[in-house]
Amino acid sequence: MKRVFSEESLSALFVLLLITGLLLGLSYSPTVSNAHTSVARLHLFPWTLIQSFHYWASSACILFAGTLLLFRLLSRKLDQARSFASFALVGLSFLFQVTGNLLPFDKHGVQTAAIEGGVAGRAPMVGKLATKLMLGSDAVSAITLSRWYLAHAALLPLLLGAMIVLLIRNRTKFQFNYLNLLVSGLVVLIAVVVSSPFGTAASSSDFTSYQALPSWYTLPMHSSLVLSNKLVGAGWIGAMLMPGLLMLLCLARIVFAEKFAVRLFAPTLSVLFIWFVVAVFGMSGDVASLTGTRDPVGETKVATDATLSQYDKALASRGRGIFNRLECVSCHGKDGAEPTGGPSLVNEPSKHQDAKFYIGFIRSPQSINPQSTMPGFPDLKEDELRAIAEFLRSPR
Ligand code: HEC
Repeated sequence: MKRVFSEESLSALFVLLLITGLLLGLSYSPTVSNAHTSVARLHLFPWTLIQSFHYWASSACILFAGTLLLFRLLSRKLDQARSFASFALVGLSFLFQVTGNLLPFDKHGVQTAAIEGGVAGRAPMVGKLATKLMLGSDAVSAITLSRWYLAHAALLPLLLGAMIVLLIRNRTKFQFNYLNLLVSGLVVLIAVVVSSPFGTAASSSDFTSYQALPSWYTLPMHSSLVLSNKLVGAGWIGAMLMPGLLMLLCLARIVFAEKFAVRLFAPTLSVLFIWFVVAVFGMSGDVASLTGTRDPVGETKVATDATLSQYDKALASRGRGIFNRLECVSCHGKDGAEPTGGPSLVNEPSKHQDAKFYIGFIRSPQSINPQSTMPGFPDLKEDELRAIAEFLRSPR
């Protein structure tokens, strides 16, 4: 793989991504009201060729950069400058993909951004700050879109440019061969035949909805979150600590190249690797489809007027009391309206009217939505659950 792809040829692919990105930027407008329609326009010929190339080539970059890094780190005589370049390219491809995912502002993009912000929010101490930094406020909003667009179209390209300059300055000899051309040609072919995934426009209820399936490149982190949640009840360990450790381990191998030899590095890496493999295969939920629309599976139903009319006010107010006394507030906040980590529950009445849904979901969220990261509350009594359900389904 090292021979097939060098940091230089990856950079060449990145330059193509920068150029196609610039072209796409010409007819993209990063506002909530225009983002989806401007991407819909990009899905028409001839833009769709550029758009699909941009999407598939950037996905391929994650795979190529990841494999290249692995080979570098496992080679006995480690090339520090090149390994560092590989490391940076992995990080950049991942961040490009994550931020770019929100730009079409379809349901999947918006809901995964909400999930990512929510996961960050569950880290101890710094959680709230992390969510604010990522989303621009406590939840996904118009600011999130402009912030991620700025990162995607300005900040990350600048970092990438700097990286490429460093690489060219430090190069010993230019590594390029015909296999690179062949692989790049394959990517172009895929782009011509298969258009990139695109779903229906997001509405504001998607800003606090968490039903979207993870994308393939976030699946390891997502499964790791579910696994650590099951084992120790703390999702951030799997979603943030474990990937963080993985990054530190790779950096340590690069910085202490000789001292931190392969025979020490490889076993440590394997332990982390096994964790992620167990997570992906053990907790394996579904992955969002690679093509077509990636709209969330559990579409929410909007209540009809008839069902909206009958509420038991006394029961709902008892439910509110129970809700605020329980652990629910640690994720959903007081009255479910000040979320920290979990979603806000103020829009629940328009999403679910069926009390049975709430009772089933609160007892065991995974029985309703296998992707759910909320802990279940199997010990609550039936009448308590009924009261909480009444509170959640009635307008506030
Ligand atoms: C550890 C954090 C956490 C706790 C504690 C928690 N939740 Fe949740 N809750 C979540 C997350 C995250 C979601 C988003 C969807 C998911 O992952 O299932 C959610 C979703 C929900 C939903 C929305 C379901 C939907 O699809 O519309 C309801 C209702 C809900 N929680 C009620 C409760 C109640 C009631 C309690 C207390 C008995 C509670 N939650 C405790 C994290 C939590």
